[in-house]
Amino acid sequence: MKRLGCKEVSEAVLSSLKERTELFMKKGNRAPSLAVVLVGHDPASETYVSKKAEACEALGFLHFQFSFESDVPESSLLSLIDELNERSDIDGILVQLPLPETIDERKIIERIAPEKDVDGFSPVNAGRMLTGGKSFIPCTPKGILRTLEYYGVETVGKKVVVIGRSNIVGKPMAVLLMQKGIDATVTVCNTRTPDLREYTIGADIIIVATGHPGTIDSSYVKDGAVVIDVGVNRIPDSTKAKGFRLTGDADYSSFKDRDVSITPVPGGIGLMTVSMLMENTFEAAERRAE
Ligand code: GUN
Repeated sequence: MKRLGCKEVSEAVLSSLKERTELFMKKGNRAPSLAVVLVGHDPASETYVSKKAEACEALGFLHFQFSFESDVPESSLLSLIDELNERSDIDGILVQLPLPETIDERKIIERIAPEKDVDGFSPVNAGRMLTGGKSFIPCTPKGILRTLEYYGVETVGKKVVVIGRSNIVGKPMAVLLMQKGIDATVTVCNTRTPDLREYTIGADIIIVATGHPGTIDSSYVKDGAVVIDVGVNRIPDSTKAKGFRLTGDADYSSFKDRDVSITPVPGGIGLMTVSMLMENTFEAAERRAE
């Protein structure tokens, strides 16, 4: 098994961004700035948001956080987005998902100005990405492509199976892999695909993003394949100080004696999601300054 850790590649992205930011500010621009909106107290969301804040701080980006209880009225969130869209001291807006069920997620995302939508989730950016236009690329799929590139994994003419069809990972991932220059042959499966193994066993690259531990194990994968594990699942574990451990969607230990390359959890794609968000925020600042 070859471990495709993402610490080195994410640090390379961040150190290049730090240099670009210093140069950008030397030219008289203010620091890139990100507004993060968090609703409720989902522990995983709170962790992600604090990692995003730390990354901003390390790069010298400005960071504004807006936190609400889960009973916040939808209208208050919409007013906040309107205000953030108008503010000239904010380049990027991120609404941490999922939102409570009482709030129409689509309505909130659609309200974010496309030029500040650093997640790339708004219909304008998603549509531009689908048609090959200039858009913000969703951070996790963008980070996966960067990881494949870093490790020299060829995509042209390769069979790629994406397991999961979320708007955050699966769908944008499939669209990006199809694009000219990347040129993969893409199959999209989901947790209701009968006999998933039938699809994955012939794949050169498998991207698993279902949010379910054990979605695949080594019996689903051929020799020489690459597995990208997007899952970040909390498993109760009384031997850990926090009372849980993190595990991906693939059964990592089953690959131990196999000729397979696989991203670990933690230390894998999660790091790329954060560094790509920083890159998108920098790009938003650069475009504003143009
Ligand atoms: N929830 C899980 N992943 C993401 C992400 O990339 N962006 C946002 N906004 N919410 C998420």
